[in-house]
Amino acid sequence: MTDKPRSHGRKSIRVTAQPRELITPTPTLKDVWTARVITLFPELFPGVLGASLTGKALKDGAWCLEPFDLRQHGIGRHRNVDDTPAGGGAGMVLRADVVDAALAAARGPGPVIYLSPRGAPFTQARAQALAAGPGVTLLCGRFEGVDQRVLDHHGIEEVSIGDYVLTGGEIAAMALIDATVRLLPGVLGNAASTEEESFSAGLLEHPQYTRPAEWQGRQIPEVLTSGNHAAVETWRREQAEELTRTRRPDLWARYLADHDND
Ligand SMILES: C[S@@+](CC[C@H](N)C(=O)[O-])C[C@H]1O[C@@H](n2cnc3c(N)ncnc32)[C@H](O)[C@@H]1O
Repeated sequence: MTDKPRSHGRKSIRVTAQPRELITPTPTLKDVWTARVITLFPELFPGVLGASLTGKALKDGAWCLEPFDLRQHGIGRHRNVDDTPAGGGAGMVLRADVVDAALAAARGPGPVIYLSPRGAPFTQARAQALAAGPGVTLLCGRFEGVDQRVLDHHGIEEVSIGDYVLTGGEIAAMALIDATVRLLPGVLGNAASTEEESFSAGLLEHPQYTRPAEWQGRQIPEVLTSGNHAAVETWRREQAEELTRTRRPDLWARYLADHDND
């Protein structure tokens, strides 16, 4: 790792403490969906987002990633960003004034989200809503989290990627960005694949198979090689419903309720 900003592709990634428009007037990317990420570890980005389809889309300018280094807004010679928790206890808390300065520099169009285990669960529906907007500004916590006052002051929404505690918000930010960017027009080769996959219709996806036709004595279900498209559709729907019913009773109940209202 290095303290220097890395370039992964064309004009898609910049580590900066300044608003982008002050330093990089790039008209061609002006209206591109943009993820701004405030982090103590900007060098972690794009990370996994730089690979495969999201990475290609980033290089092609289909979306934009701007990590902002929280440390640049730190206090004093040592650029301190944290302090001990008021009331005592273990760990450190990111300072409100430092986070506020970073937000002033990083905030762009679209919502500001603090990745947090206390947040509302991130869902496919939320990814779809974010993909339909201009972008998102993400705040990655570290240590014990962020001083509550800066979250309250800016009315910042908290979003969780699951009921477990990560060391920092960067992996959560990457998960949110990945789930959202793949829904942007042109990022996936086959747009239909996002319409059919898990959660899009309120169900888990049906099982998938490919060649060889027989493996370890196991056959591909006959219907899938029958050439009968209607029968394949029906089989897939039944499998998706059964998987959802047995694995995710919470999703199944919501699915039934939604379909009762149709
Ligand atoms: C060690 S955690 C802080 C946990 C916090 N003290 C608590 O108990 O809620 C440090 C940072 O990791 C990120 N993080 C941890 N778990 C997360 C999750 N499930 N979803 C999103 N972000 C998470 C948040 O940004 C958080 O500020």
